[in-house]
Amino acid sequence: MPTVPYDDFADVYDAWVDTVPVAEAMRSFYVELLAESDGPVVELGVGNGRICVEVARRGRPVIGVDSSAAVLELCRSRAREAGVEERLELVQADFRDFELETPAALITIPFHSLGHLTSDDDKLRCMRQVHRQLAPGGLFVWDHFVFDPDYPGQSGTLNLRAETRDPASGRERLVWECSSRDPERQIIDILVRVEDLGEGGAVEATRYVRMEMSWIEPKRSRDLMAESGFDILELYGDFQRGDFTAESTHQVWVARRPS
Ligand SMILES: C[S@@+](CC[C@H](N)C(=O)[O-])C[C@H]1O[C@@H](n2cnc3c(N)ncnc32)[C@H](O)[C@@H]1O
Repeated sequence: MPTVPYDDFADVYDAWVDTVPVAEAMRSFYVELLAESDGPVVELGVGNGRICVEVARRGRPVIGVDSSAAVLELCRSRAREAGVEERLELVQADFRDFELETPAALITIPFHSLGHLTSDDDKLRCMRQVHRQLAPGGLFVWDHFVFDPDYPGQSGTLNLRAETRDPASGRERLVWECSSRDPERQIIDILVRVEDLGEGGAVEATRYVRMEMSWIEPKRSRDLMAESGFDILELYGDFQRGDFTAESTHQVWVARRPS
C-alpha cells in the first residue's frame, strides 16, 4: 500500500467526486470565499485543483498545499490548461507542518480533508499550525461531514462507486468501494478497487488503494479549535450558510485567529 494514498488515487479523484452530492455546493462556497478575501489565501489539501484553479481564473492568486506529488501535478496541469498557472503557488507539504512565507489572511481545508488526520492529536497539531501561519485576525474555514451511523454503504459491502474511463488510455474503468467503520476509533476504513477493462469486458488491470477517513463530533471540533487558540465565529450546517441543526449532515466552521 502506498504511504500517500492520493498518489494512487489521483487519476480516479474526479470520478469519485462526481458521486458526492454536496461536492458542487461545497466548491462554490470555497471559491467565493477564497476569491473575495483580501491578502494571501491558502487551500490545504488542494487536490487536483477543482477549487483553487477556479479561484485563480477569477484573478485571485492562491497557495495550494498537498502531500501528494501526483495530485499536485494534476493541479498544475489543470492550471496550465486554464492559463492561470502563474497565479498558483503549489507546495508539497503536510497539514501538520506546512510553512508559508507570508502570514495568510485565510486558510481553508475543504472537503472533509481534516478527516485524513485520524487522531485528535494530529488534528490539533494541524489546527495549531494553521493558527501559527495565519496573520492576526486571519480566518480558518473548514468542513466535515456529521457522522450518521445509518448512512448506507459503510457496512463492509462492495459497492460500484463510479463507471468512468482511464484519462490516459481511454479504457473503461470501474471504481469499487468497500468501507467499514470502527466506532471506537471514529474511523472509516475505505478500500478502493480500480479495474480497467479491455476488449470484451475482460479486466486488464486491477489496483487497490486504502484510505482512512476519521469523523469528529461537532462538540470535539469546537474544543480542538478553542484549544488551538481560535475564536469561533460561525458554525453552518451546509454550504449555503444555513444554521447548524440536529439534522445537519455537515459542519462548516469559520474561526478567527484573535488580533
Ligand atoms: C478529499 S481531497 C480534497 C481535495 C480538494 N480540496 C477538493 O475539494 O477537491 C483531500 C486532499 O488532501 C490531501 N491530504 C490528505 N492528507 C494530507 C496531509 N496530512 N497533508 C497534506 N495533504 C493531505 C490529499 O492528498 C488530497 O489531495
